[in-house]
Amino acid sequence: MLNPNLKATPFIVGTMRLGTWGAQFSSQAYEKFIDQCVDLGLTHFDHADIYGHYTTEAAFGAVLKRRADLRKKVQLTTKCGIRLVTPNRPAHQLKSYDLSKAHIIASVEHSLQALGKSVLDCFLLHRPDFLMDPHEIAEAFTQLKAAGKVLDVGVSNFSTSQFELLHSFTPLSIHQVEISALHLAAFQDGTLDQCLQHQVIPTAWSPFGGGAIFGETANPVQARLKAAAEVLAQQYDTGVDQILLAFLRSHPAGIIPILGTSKIERIKAAYAQQNLQLTKAEWYALWQATTGEEVA
Ligand SMILES: NC(=O)c1ccc[n+]([C@@H]2O[C@H](COP(=O)([O-])OP(=O)(O)OC[C@H]3O[C@@H](n4cnc5c(N)ncnc54)[C@H](OP(=O)(O)O)[C@@H]3O)[C@@H](O)[C@H]2O)c1
Repeated sequence: MLNPNLKATPFIVGTMRLGTWGAQFSSQAYEKFIDQCVDLGLTHFDHADIYGHYTTEAAFGAVLKRRADLRKKVQLTTKCGIRLVTPNRPAHQLKSYDLSKAHIIASVEHSLQALGKSVLDCFLLHRPDFLMDPHEIAEAFTQLKAAGKVLDVGVSNFSTSQFELLHSFTPLSIHQVEISALHLAAFQDGTLDQCLQHQVIPTAWSPFGGGAIFGETANPVQARLKAAAEVLAQQYDTGVDQILLAFLRSHPAGIIPILGTSKIERIKAAYAQQNLQLTKAEWYALWQATTGEEVA
């Protein structure tokens, strides 16, 4: 049964760009940022073992290790399955995927140690391993749950058939995929239908398509979407960012955006406008701006 805290949260806070892959947070900056998110009521953070070339979990965890109060308040998602080639993992000679039972279990142990927690609230398989065996994955999940090391399990970036296969072996609660007004695949490829069908929570990575839309953009799709979102932003007296989040909110599957910003003011703005709703016509205006054509 999915943790009700996750279902209720308007946003998850992403950590991918907080460390060496982005904002280069110091330990003090992490602490301030986590404190400010928690004060706001946003207590769920999204990690992956690979972020910062395998350094972000430990940098974030260093705060939790010295702040027992924060450690108790936060909920954490992390992921495994990608083997990055980096000096931090000299044994990895080639970028590849590994969802073997041994790798899943070792990854959970490693993430728990790095994060300074005894249990992971959500544990996800980061990408489908083309050689994955659902029997083995189910065994790993069963063992981890029985040991009290993970509460909910799910996947990320799986096709609908890969999801269906694994879900028939072991119950999955979350599917983390790229969803935004710029990246519409999940609306059309059955991913969100499947989430509704199985009462799985869809969490959306890159809800702003990685952020390029906010700058000067020569990309015609981004430019069209930005122009359409600006019209609505003016109408609702808000920012383009809040219109793009409202776009996700319109879908009945209950998409939870994972905010990728390192700026607390941007998180506060999103939190303040969490009830902004678009009409269907406004939603389709954004859809049409991205696709460049009227629906059939
Ligand atoms: N499962 C997966 O395969 C996967 C893949 C990618 C990401 N993720 C997860 O999803 C999270 C979010 O992804 P993302 O970082 O690509 O999300 P995003 O929010 O689409 O992009 C974040 C980027 O946009 C900028 N930005 C965000 N809000 C802005 C605003 N209102 N105005 C101007 N710039 C803004 C941020 O810069 P500032 O910091 O300056 O605001 C940052 O550079 C990650 O942290 C990670 O946890 C998962």
